[in-house]
Amino acid sequence: MERVTLEQIFVHPITKKYLQRSGVAHAVAVAEYAYIFSKRFAVNPDLATKAALLHDIGHYTWYRNGEWDYNLYKENDIHAIKGASRAHKLLIRNGEERQAAKEIAVAILLHTDSYLPEGELQLNPLQQVVAMADEADEEYGGNHHYKEIDPELALTRIRALDKQIDDALNKADTSSKHA
Ligand SMILES: [Fe+2]
Repeated sequence: MERVTLEQIFVHPITKKYLQRSGVAHAVAVAEYAYIFSKRFAVNPDLATKAALLHDIGHYTWYRNGEWDYNLYKENDIHAIKGASRAHKLLIRNGEERQAAKEIAVAILLHTDSYLPEGELQLNPLQQVVAMADEADEEYGGNHHYKEIDPELALTRIRALDKQIDDALNKADTSSKHA
């Protein structure tokens, strides 16, 4: 079966709508970090980059009197839960395989523990890669959400990632056949 590409997901109206809120530049950068980390930790780059691209798709806008209210956000935020569910629906609609859609959704669910009670989370390598990629692009005061990117450049970088993922998956496939 043909791989559902990052580009397919990226240009979807649902993705566009929600990535405007949390920042397209951040989403693209986190997907690129996830690709790099996926190699280091021998994780499937397709799953890692999709989860990374969509990890903040669940954000709600916590504005009060025209300004972002961080306390309101802190108290009520469930963006990882919402994002996991939104991403799952989007992936399935785009023809993603169910097992993959589930793995991506769970990695999104666990990319932050900010909404969870104190405790130790045991993340698997895929989930770790996505959380690390997010952290790698984090800036003080949540500024990573406000970075700007030219839409054409964003698409070019997404296409470049798709190419790298295809190459990596093909390579893995051939080496397993020759093993
Ligand atoms: Fe993020």
